[in-house]
Amino acid sequence: MTIIGKLDLRTFLRNATVFAVALLVFELGTVGLAGCNQARSLSRSAEVVQPASPGSWKATIVSDGEPGESLVVSGTIYAPDGRTPLEGINLFVYQTDATGRYTTSGGDNRNTRIHGSMRTNAEGRYEFRTIRPGSYPQSRNPQHIHAYVSGPGYPEYWIDEYHFNDDPFVTDEMRGKAEKGKMSSILTVTRGADGVWRGIRDIKIERCSRNCTGR
Ligand SMILES: [Fe+2]
Repeated sequence: MTIIGKLDLRTFLRNATVFAVALLVFELGTVGLAGCNQARSLSRSAEVVQPASPGSWKATIVSDGEPGESLVVSGTIYAPDGRTPLEGINLFVYQTDATGRYTTSGGDNRNTRIHGSMRTNAEGRYEFRTIRPGSYPQSRNPQHIHAYVSGPGYPEYWIDEYHFNDDPFVTDEMRGKAEKGKMSSILTVTRGADGVWRGIRDIKIERCSRNCTGR
């Protein structure tokens, strides 16, 4: 190879690297860097459908007519002893739409298009109504719903995403690592005669030692 040939190759490789990095940044930005890495962005989305309503133990986090299969998730949040239901614990959730997209404009994961907040009642209960999220486009990423918990004496942290036991993209490894029973992050979902999917997940809160958000 001539010197000119080597220089051309070097230039080509450099340009190709820059292009690849730019493409990666673009992909993460559109699919949801804020989604899975839990990172925060300063940008704000203008596509909020449902404002956070942290005062109620129940929330509907999609508008009427949101495309997708209806889903209701409920459960109880317990103290670290795993037995005492806790009142006043905040649960914040956000997810993709049925096509696997968070938002078309990217941005703050507190402000993704489909999100909502609840606060547990005297029985420690929470419930949210939504639609089943889609996998990220052209991916084998399982359907999932992100979630944070916090409350008096419990600084905020994020917990394992909600997954679905009937999702073929949930791996055996994921199933093996997940808690069992109602504490499992992999929801056992059933579809009622009304066409609504339902799943239960109880949560044992902890004083965050990992995944802390600093809030
Ligand atoms: Fe995500």
